[in-house]
Amino acid sequence: MNTSPTAPRAAVIGWPVSHSLSPRLHGFWLNHYNIPGTYGILPIKPEDLAHSVGDLFHQNYVGFNVTVPHKQSICDLLDERDESARKIGAVNLVIIDREGRLHGRNTDAYGFAQNLLTGGFKPAGGKAVVIGAGGAARAVIVALIDLGFDNITLTNRTAAHADELAQTFTSPACKIITAPWRDAARALADAQLLVNTTSLGMVGQPALTLPLDQLPTDATVTDIVYAPLETGLLREARERGHKTIDGLGMLLHQARPAFAAFFGHQPEVTPELRAYVLSQVKA
Ligand code: ATR
Repeated sequence: MNTSPTAPRAAVIGWPVSHSLSPRLHGFWLNHYNIPGTYGILPIKPEDLAHSVGDLFHQNYVGFNVTVPHKQSICDLLDERDESARKIGAVNLVIIDREGRLHGRNTDAYGFAQNLLTGGFKPAGGKAVVIGAGGAARAVIVALIDLGFDNITLTNRTAAHADELAQTFTSPACKIITAPWRDAARALADAQLLVNTTSLGMVGQPALTLPLDQLPTDATVTDIVYAPLETGLLREARERGHKTIDGLGMLLHQARPAFAAFFGHQPEVTPELRAYVLSQVKA
């Protein structure tokens, strides 16, 4: 990694942010493609956000990734947001142009869709079921609409959160309905895709308990959780014969447009990258 003062600089901002895998992911690509540049970690407290972000242009930053708790609050500081960021209502990538203007993007929907497509999922309309109604669910819904699903059923512990998303995202092309949390298992009938967008099943979190007997056998199951790589949901789905796609690829693919914007090279998601990032998750 080239650390000359003129090399492009990028970073991830958050609070706390030390757990972020982004520096290792971008560091892998910088080394692999032998690109001059650096990608660091910037812990920024919420109250320091405006001041700290304002300084980055003068420190040769070409952009930065954004993680919790700044994904929404950063929006007030931007000069422009792309369609995906506006629809999702959050920004995970900011590009700083030569005049110091800040351009907000959201690459989570792209990352989710690319993970599905490169995992062999063939979109053919029909029905998807989404578990959860938080920030990740918003990106997943935007991706599912773009992938051409005709209808999406949302189910969430807090029904009001699912209702709000259904109202926000329902469109002529895609009907979004909600199913009560206790009826989630029944909502799986006729689905082509089941997505978990909650933290249930993650290391240290409760399991997602969802009987899959109503899910058609040709349905695909995916999880945005990647620690563990095979969540309880994915294991049960695999054992029942479903195609499963783990969540690590979403993390890797969402980073590709960021790396391209920062360092001018479109990077690839390879088995080597997956193995490296996985070793860092476990470390
Ligand atoms: P993110 O931005 O990662 O999606 P979030 O906005 O906090 O995180 O959303 C977390 C999602 O996981 C929500 O759908 C949440 O359900 P609620 O809307 O009822 O809070 C869901 N979730 C988290 N812990 C849960 C639990 N123990 N049981 C059921 N759902 C849970």
